[in-house]
Amino acid sequence: MVRETSLSPDDFIYPLFVTFGKGVKKEILSMPGCFQESVDKVVKNAKEVFSLNIPSVILFGIPEHKDEMGSGAYDEHGVVQNAVKAIKDAVPELYVITDVCMCEYMSHGHCGLVRNGEVENDPTLELLSKEAVSHAKAGADMVAPSDMMDGRVRAIRLALDREGFKDIPIMSYSAKYASAFYGPFREAAESTPQFGDRRSYQMDPPNRIEALKEVALDIEEGADIVMVKPALAYLDVISDVRNTFNVPVAAYNVSGEYSLVKAAGRLGWIDEQRIMMEILTSIKRAGANLILTYFAKEAAKILNK
Ligand code: PBG
Repeated sequence: MVRETSLSPDDFIYPLFVTFGKGVKKEILSMPGCFQESVDKVVKNAKEVFSLNIPSVILFGIPEHKDEMGSGAYDEHGVVQNAVKAIKDAVPELYVITDVCMCEYMSHGHCGLVRNGEVENDPTLELLSKEAVSHAKAGADMVAPSDMMDGRVRAIRLALDREGFKDIPIMSYSAKYASAFYGPFREAAESTPQFGDRRSYQMDPPNRIEALKEVALDIEEGADIVMVKPALAYLDVISDVRNTFNVPVAAYNVSGEYSLVKAAGRLGWIDEQRIMMEILTSIKRAGANLILTYFAKEAAKILNK
C-alpha cells in the first residue's frame, strides 16, 4: 500500500536489431538473449513482445553494405524501413520507434559525415532528416535521433513537417554520454568507430549541469520526449531532468549494463532476476517514465504473473 514506485511492462521499450537476409537469428555474444534478426524473424519477436504487454519497440539496423554517405540509412528498401512495414502489418497496435543515426550505416562507424578525419555536424543534419523521413514513410510511429549532432531535433522536425508527418513525435537522445557502457551494442550493431571516438559529439561523463542545457535545447527545438543515456550510472541526471522539465523522460538501460548482469548471473555470483528488477525499479524511482531495456521481455514475464 505504501510502496512508492512500481514497475509495469507499460514502462518498457524493447530494442530490436534488424539485419538483411532471411531466416537469420544470430545471438549477440556479449548480450545473451539478444539477437540480430532478419525481417521475418524480427516480426515474430515483435509479436512476442506485444503478447507480453510491452507496448513498444525501437529498431536498429545492420545493413548489408556500409559506405561513406551511410546510404543504407535512408534507403526506402533499407533493413529498418522493411522491418517497420512488416511489423506494422503484422502487429499494428505495437508502437514502433526507429533509432535515427548514421553510425550503423557508415563504413567508418561514426554518427555523422566525416571530412578530413573530422565528424562534420551541419552536413550530417540533412542525412539524418532524410533518414527520419524515410522511417516515417515506412510507417514508424516515432523517430528517435541518437547521433548527438547539434540542431538535429529542429532539422528533423522541419523535415517531417514539410513531408506531411507533423504528427510523428520525436524522442531525442538528449543527454547521451560518451560511455564505455555501449561496448556490447557496438558489437551488436557493428558500429564501432574505425578511428578516434565519439567524444566530439557525445557528452563528458563528469558533467551534470550540461545535461540540463542539452535537454533544454532539444525541447526548444521540438523534442516530445527526452532521454538520458546510459541509465544506471546516470541516475542523478535522470532525476535532475525529471525535476527540471515537464516532458516525459526516457532512460536507456544500455548494453553494458545488461551484459554485466548477465555475465555475473552466469557465473553464479549474483541473483540475476532480483538484480534486474532492482535496477529497473531504481531507474523508474529516479524519475524515468519510460525505460529502454534489453531486460524488457524477462521483466515483463515476471510482472505479468
Ligand atoms: C548509436 C547508438 C548507440 C546506442 C544506441 N544508439 C551506440 C553509440 O552511441 O555508440 C547504444 C545502446 C546500447 O549500448 O545499448 N548512435
